[in-house]
Amino acid sequence: MDLQKAGDRADEPDRPWVCVNFAMSADGKLALPDGTPVEISSEQDMLRVHQLRASSDAILVGVSTIIADDPKLHVSPVRVRNPPTLLKVVLDASGRTPTDARLFDSPGETLIATVDGTAPGLQERLGDRADVIPFGPGPLVHLPGLIYNLACRGVQRLMVEGGGETIWSFMSTGLVDEISCYIGPVVIGGGESPTPADGPGAKDLSQIVGLELLSAERLGEGMWMRYRVTGRQ
Ligand SMILES: NC(=O)c1ccc[n+]([C@@H]2O[C@H](COP(=O)([O-])OP(=O)(O)OC[C@H]3O[C@@H](n4cnc5c(N)ncnc54)[C@H](OP(=O)(O)O)[C@@H]3O)[C@@H](O)[C@H]2O)c1
Repeated sequence: MDLQKAGDRADEPDRPWVCVNFAMSADGKLALPDGTPVEISSEQDMLRVHQLRASSDAILVGVSTIIADDPKLHVSPVRVRNPPTLLKVVLDASGRTPTDARLFDSPGETLIATVDGTAPGLQERLGDRADVIPFGPGPLVHLPGLIYNLACRGVQRLMVEGGGETIWSFMSTGLVDEISCYIGPVVIGGGESPTPADGPGAKDLSQIVGLELLSAERLGEGMWMRYRVTGRQ
């Protein structure tokens, strides 16, 4: 299946619109080198994030973010009135999602996207907490297959909330439409600290991903930037 062509044929669903959202320090880092979360977002930014989530059908993170941050992946009823229920999606090729992760206690179904060899054991371990579905032989989850599955489930808007390896995988596969970035008033520093686009990164100039700045707005003590992804340079 050629995902870029998904939606071109009448019998294929449109691929979801994909928005990447993250908060980074003024020096472009997401967390401490060992993955310890850092408070980067302001209260205004958290409100914006939950409003953005509320306009989505599904929210996705990598398993290292589940382990480091233990996010609920929900729309907070404190921040958004009548919050919608989202499909929660985790990329987990090696089956590391903890059974007591907080996302299992928040509203909505959970899809753990994994790879062929991991799926049976992981489904047994997680029981009815989640649907475990393999996408390819690995070592990582095959994102075009996952996106096609989400489109078939009726997901029209997907929010990708990190971390850096996950974001780079989506960017480098050409699956991101918009980037929403909050730059908070802190410096984390260090060459080992995770950044918004980790993983292998661009290996040559042809792999650099081009952006168009849509808006830049002060939010509390930080800046909120929105970009449209224009594709490879
Ligand atoms: N400031 C922010 O906005 C923000 C947001 C989110 C996270 N974070 C921080 O980011 C850090 C975690 O980021 P991270 O880059 O280390 O990890 P990550 O992106 O959360 O998860 C990456 C892991 O997901 C699994 N995976 C499976 N298929 C994949 C695919 N196709 N592409 C990418 N990953 C795939 C792999 O683990 P397996 O091989 O084991 O499956 C991979 O190592 C944490 O410190 C967290 O606090 C910050």
